[in-house]
Amino acid sequence: MEATKFQCKRSGKEVTLRIFDKADASDHDRFGQIAARAAEDPDLRTYKKPAEDLMADEKSEYLGAFDENGDPVAIKRINFDQEVIRQKVVPFPAILNATKMIQLGGSFVDEEYRHQGINTAQLEWSRQWGLANGYDEMVVVVANENPKSVIAHQRYFGEPVEGEYYDSVFNRPVTLFARETADDGEKKES
Ligand SMILES: CC(C)(COP(=O)(O)OP(=O)(O)OC[C@H]1O[C@@H](n2cnc3c(N)ncnc32)[C@H](O)[C@@H]1OP(=O)(O)O)[C@@H](O)C(=O)NCCC(=O)NCCS
Repeated sequence: MEATKFQCKRSGKEVTLRIFDKADASDHDRFGQIAARAAEDPDLRTYKKPAEDLMADEKSEYLGAFDENGDPVAIKRINFDQEVIRQKVVPFPAILNATKMIQLGGSFVDEEYRHQGINTAQLEWSRQWGLANGYDEMVVVVANENPKSVIAHQRYFGEPVEGEYYDSVFNRPVTLFARETADDGEKKES
């Protein structure tokens, strides 16, 4: 999907949503800067690794929100390959009965841009991208120790997937959210 513009709630600032281009050296630098800020966020435990390592993760893509100067103000990790499940929770396809899914995680929004709908816009961008590219389901795993993020994701996904889940990589209980990419949120006639 092409770059998409999004107007932040309240501040009215415009950001552009697009995947970081790993082949672009300047994008690589920009990614390093925001990943370093993410690493310092007390609520975020996922980005423990140095920024360089993250960009070198060939199996993941990173969806950014970029300000008018082209600097990223938010990132979200996207795994298109369901073999790569960062958080060793459970075999998602078995639980969700999906054939092809994208896994999202590692979300970070710069403080001054929070609560303006950017995370929600990134989730919606991902849903539409998934739908257009043959993915039937999107999933995200959120640490229970981060209730703000649980709330933020519940707002978009609705009730979590039933059951108790544990992340054996980061050793913590997690909440699992899933949504069919075909679910555009509109109420259907029954
Ligand atoms: C969690 C985080 C990614 C949310 O991003 P965001 O762009 O601020 O989220 P949105 O603006 O799309 O908010 C969506 C909903 O979540 C809820 N929400 C968001 N932040 C919240 C907070 N701090 N406290 C309570 N509810 C919150 C609100 O209900 C909001 O809906 P509303 O605006 O209609 O009221 C962001 O706060 C963040 O980067 N936090 C630090 C890092 C982190 O914890 N990452 C999550 C790892 S999975």
